[in-house]
Amino acid sequence: MTARAQEPAGADPARPIETPEGLASRFEDGRPGVAYIKPKVLFLKTEALYDAPVPLSIHLPSSGIGSISLLEAACLTALVRIVRPRRIFEFGTFLGYSTSLFLANSGPGCQVVSVDLGDVTESLAGAAGYSDAELRSDDRKNDDHLRLTQARMGPLYLRDLAEDDRARLTLLHQDSRTLDIKGLGLEGAVDFVFVDGGHDLETIASDTERARRMLGGSGVIVWHDFNSGIHGEVTRYMTGESQKDVILSVPGSMLAVGLYGEARETALNAAFRPG
Ligand SMILES: C[S@@+](CC[C@H](N)C(=O)[O-])C[C@H]1O[C@@H](n2cnc3c(N)ncnc32)[C@H](O)[C@@H]1O
Repeated sequence: MTARAQEPAGADPARPIETPEGLASRFEDGRPGVAYIKPKVLFLKTEALYDAPVPLSIHLPSSGIGSISLLEAACLTALVRIVRPRRIFEFGTFLGYSTSLFLANSGPGCQVVSVDLGDVTESLAGAAGYSDAELRSDDRKNDDHLRLTQARMGPLYLRDLAEDDRARLTLLHQDSRTLDIKGLGLEGAVDFVFVDGGHDLETIASDTERARRMLGGSGVIVWHDFNSGIHGEVTRYMTGESQKDVILSVPGSMLAVGLYGEARETALNAAFRPG
């Protein structure tokens, strides 16, 4: 038997898992690792959940540095439609693009909480002078540029929210590494977390630890910037995570997805299969 034949399904991004059944058996296999899946696996599961065609609500992402791509937006919103969360927490509001997707694709009872640093204009003013080449090659400079852009522009994608959506959104302004999860009533009270804040190892580890406490054992964590050409520490961290559990990723995207507890069972449940 060759080494490749012994690999779990989806280990090679060039041969992603193509069906919901393939995904279910990947979890039955039980071995940890990154499992690459085609986006249609998520879309099939979403369709199977609803009687009518599923309206994903997505507007075009900015082509500038710092947000997510259209493929990532489609996968992220499909996941929200599958999980039907009661509370979503986001690390890294930036201009509010992904936050706006969460609001537009979750139910009217779903609370959305997002954290970003707020005003860092004075401390990071120097980041305004970085060249495009620097931003595309230097992890730290890229992060400081995002922090400054967020402080200068604010959450512009959230400007025209309907009143109902505004009422279920909470924007926190602080360093995520100092968040008091318990004090905020978020411990075990969140079922969908998007980790897309600072990209250094210390921040990812801290945000992930808080994300786990928010889930309390059941729910979904989506990390952004896995396999990024710039933010290598996210890839390093996620490689460590994938040695403990199955982490899903869609080739061509920088999303990494962890399904935990009941949410994993629900997502793999037969009721979610087409037919
Ligand atoms: C890549 S952007 C988020 C993009 C956004 N999720 C989207 O897709 O539209 C990262 C954001 O994380 C914020 N950030 C970085 N370090 C942070 C920290 N320690 N605490 C809170 N926010 C942080 C930055 O200010 C920046 O706005």
